[in-house]
Amino acid sequence: MGPVSRRLPDLEREVASGSAEETFALGERLGRLLAPGDFVGLLGELGTGKTQLVRGVAEGAGVPRKEVASPSFAILYPYRGRIPLYHADLYRISGYDELYATGFFELWGGDGALLVEWLDRVPEASPDSLLLVELAFAGDDHRTIQARAYGARPAELLAAWLGQ
Ligand SMILES: Nc1ncnc2c1ncn2[C@@H]1O[C@H](COP(=O)(O)OP(=O)(O)OP(=O)(O)O)[C@@H](O)[C@H]1O
Ligand SMILES: [Mg+2]
Repeated sequence: MGPVSRRLPDLEREVASGSAEETFALGERLGRLLAPGDFVGLLGELGTGKTQLVRGVAEGAGVPRKEVASPSFAILYPYRGRIPLYHADLYRISGYDELYATGFFELWGGDGALLVEWLDRVPEASPDSLLLVELAFAGDDHRTIQARAYGARPAELLAAWLGQ
């Protein structure tokens, strides 16, 4: 993790998911709340459900289903919904230079919301203000989803998503 994980979050929430559908529904709720400039970092081992959550977010943000791919070939996918959504996956990235070349940093605070899987792969990829969502295996189809908000807007977003 980058330096952000060592800061104290402004708000922290934990929620359990018992199925892929439940994670999708949680994502959908978040997608309805996203605004331009929001940044969501997704952490957790392979197969914990980061992309599944993003699929729900895209649905909630009004992105047509056929637009949502699993970002295995490109680092950054733009989706057109109620607002633009940018879905990045840093799992296979070589480092900062490659990320810079995608235009990733020009999207910060821009017209859309960013969702970034494997954010911890590139220390410089985390802005000061963000929502971190960490998924972990909890047996069979169960997952724990830990969300930590850093900054005023992310805290407001998290409170609206998972409760005050
Ligand atoms: N509660 C759950 N929440 C999310 N996914 C679940 C859950 N239970 C089972 N699954 C399954 O786990 C898998 C999660 O895959 P997904 O691609 O979303 O993981 P990921 O975290 O994005 O992995 P990667 O690091 O490879 O990108 C899917 O096959 C999904 O159906
Ligand atoms: Mg994924």
